[in-house]
Amino acid sequence: MKYRVTGNIDGVRDGMLARLDSLFEYELEDGSYLPRDMMKMLADCSCAINREIAVYITRDGEIVSVAIGTDCDVELTDYRLRRNEKRLSYVRCVHTHPNGDGRLSDVDLSALKIFRYDAMTALGVKDGEPTFIQTAFLGENTEILMDEPVRWYKTPDAEWLARIDQSDELVGREETRDVDSRQEKAVLMGIESMESLEELKRLAETAGAEVAASFLQKRDKPDSALFIGKGRAEELSRECQALEADVCIFDEELTGMQVRNLEEMLRIRVIDRTMLILDIFAQRATSAEGKLQVELAQLQYRSARLIGQGLVLSRLAGGIGTRGPGESKLEMNRRRIRMRMTELKRRLDELEKQRNVRRKNRERNEIPVVALVGYTNAGKSTLLNTLSGADVYVQDQLFATLDAVSRRMETAEKTPYLLTDTVGFIRKLPHTLISAFRSTLDEAALADVLVIVSDGASPDMLQQHDTVEQVLEELGATEQKRIEVINKADACDPDPVFPGAVIISAKTGEGLEDLKEAIAAALQESYVPTSFAIPFSRYGILNEIREAGRVMTEEHTAEGTKVTVMIAKEDTERLVRKYGADIVVSG
Ligand code: GTP
Repeated sequence: MKYRVTGNIDGVRDGMLARLDSLFEYELEDGSYLPRDMMKMLADCSCAINREIAVYITRDGEIVSVAIGTDCDVELTDYRLRRNEKRLSYVRCVHTHPNGDGRLSDVDLSALKIFRYDAMTALGVKDGEPTFIQTAFLGENTEILMDEPVRWYKTPDAEWLARIDQSDELVGREETRDVDSRQEKAVLMGIESMESLEELKRLAETAGAEVAASFLQKRDKPDSALFIGKGRAEELSRECQALEADVCIFDEELTGMQVRNLEEMLRIRVIDRTMLILDIFAQRATSAEGKLQVELAQLQYRSARLIGQGLVLSRLAGGIGTRGPGESKLEMNRRRIRMRMTELKRRLDELEKQRNVRRKNRERNEIPVVALVGYTNAGKSTLLNTLSGADVYVQDQLFATLDAVSRRMETAEKTPYLLTDTVGFIRKLPHTLISAFRSTLDEAALADVLVIVSDGASPDMLQQHDTVEQVLEELGATEQKRIEVINKADACDPDPVFPGAVIISAKTGEGLEDLKEAIAAALQESYVPTSFAIPFSRYGILNEIREAGRVMTEEHTAEGTKVTVMIAKEDTERLVRKYGADIVVSG
C-alpha cells in the first residue's frame, strides 16, 4: 500500500502510516492555527514511534505534507516558489519534539530563515501528550521574531495567524522595494491590430513599465493552451530572455490556464490587458469607493483565474498587474478572497445606498446634470477645469481621473447645472470594470445632457467615438440629449465629422463660448424654470410637480404654495392638460 507520508518510514507499521495519512484529509477551520485534536494525535503518534513528525499547512488550511524524521530530527522541505525566493513560502511547518521540549532549536530557526516558512512551530510531546508549543516568524530583513513557549492548550490561534499576515507584509515590503526601485521591462504581444497594440503600449507606460518590444501576430482563433501557437510562444520566450524582460503583456484577455502555461514557457510574469488596466486603476483610485471598486474588480478577475493553480497561489507583489489599491493585500488564498469579496461588496452596497440617497436628493431638489464623457485622454478633465476654474488632476496619461468629479455651474441665463467629469472609456474596457464602476459610470447614465468629448488630434478618433457609443449603450445612456465636441483644435485641423459638433480647444479656450451656448440650449430644451401656484385645496398636485421637476424655490403664501421648478416642457404641458392652465404662474 502506498502512503503519502514521507521521510523515515522504515519500520513504521501500516496502521500508523494510515493514521498519519489521514491528516491529508484534514482541512483546518478558519481561524485555526493548529487544532487541539491534531496536536493530541501528533503527540500520540510521535511518542509511539519515538520520532519527530513534521506537518506542513498552507495558508488555505490544507495539509500538504507529513514527514517522519528520527528521534531528534526531521528533514524539512523547501516549499518556496522558485521564481520568487524572497517571499514567504505560504506554508507553515509544525513539528514535534519527542523529548517533551517545546522550544524551537537553532536548526529550526535557521530552517525558518532559509525556507521562508510562514511560521515555524515546535510542539513538545511526552508520554503520548503534547506539552509546550513555541512559534517563530520572520520580520524585516529576515529577522527572527520568536514568541515565548506556551502550554499547548493555550495556543493563541488568532494571534499567530495574524502574525503570519504581518510577517508576510514585512517580508513583502522588502520585495516591493526591490521591484519598485526600477522600471519593469515589458514585452507586448498583440493579435488584433497595430492600433490596439499602440494603445497597449501607452497603457503599459502609464502603469510604469518600459516597453522593450511589441509584437503583433495575426491569428484568427487563439490557441486554447497558449493563446499564440506553440512555435510562436517558444520564439517569444527567447525574445523575452534576450531582452531581459520582466513581464509579458498580452493585448487580449487570457484564461487562467493560458497565463499558467505561458508563464511556464516564458519564465516571466504574464499578464493580460485587463490585468494591466486594473493595475492602472489600482494606482489611480483615490476615493474610498474607487479603491473598493478596483479591489473588488481585481479579486473577481483573479479568483476566476486561480482555479487549479496548485499549492502556491502567491504572485510577486509590487510588479505590474499585481498591485492592489492602497495598502490592501492581494496575495490571498481562495477562502480569504471569497471573504474579502463579500466584505467589499457589503461596504460598496453601503456606499451605494448613501449615493442613491444623495442622488435622490439631487433629483428632487437640485439641478440638471451635464456629464462629460469620452475616450480616455480626450481632454475631459482639462475641459472641466477650463469651464469651471476647478482644479482636477490632468495628465497626459490614460485614466488620470477615476472618480466622477462634479462642479456647480450656471448658464448665461443663470440656469444652474452640475458639470460632471467621468472615468475615461477605452476599447475592450474590461467587463469586470464596467460592473465595478457601474455606480460611477451611472453618473453618465443618469445625466440629463451628455457632452461627448472626442480627441481631434488622435488618428483613431472615429474608432474611439464608436467605443464611447458602445459603452454608453451598455450603460443604457441612450435617451439623453447629446452634444458632440471635438477637442484639441489647437493641435490639429479638426474634421467636423459629427453633425453639429462643437470644435474647441480646452487648452486655449477656443470654442468654449459655443460649447457653453450649446449646453445652455440643451438644458433649455429639456428643462425650463417654471413657477406653479397651487392652492391648499389642490395640495396633491404639488407632489406630482415635485416628482416631475427639480425644486428651485418653494414659498408658502396665504393662498397656497408657489413652487418654482426646473421642469421639462413636456411635463409642464402634461400637468396643464391634467389640471388646467391656471396652475402655471406666467412671467
Ligand atoms: P482620462 O482621465 O484618462 O479620462 O483623460 P481626460 O479625458 O480627462 O484627459 P485630460 O484632461 O487628462 O487630458 C489628457 C491630455 O490631453 C493632457 O495632456 C492635456 O493637457 C491634453 N489636452 C487636453 N485638452 C487639450 C487641448 O485642447 N489641446 C491640446 N493640445 N491638448 C489638450
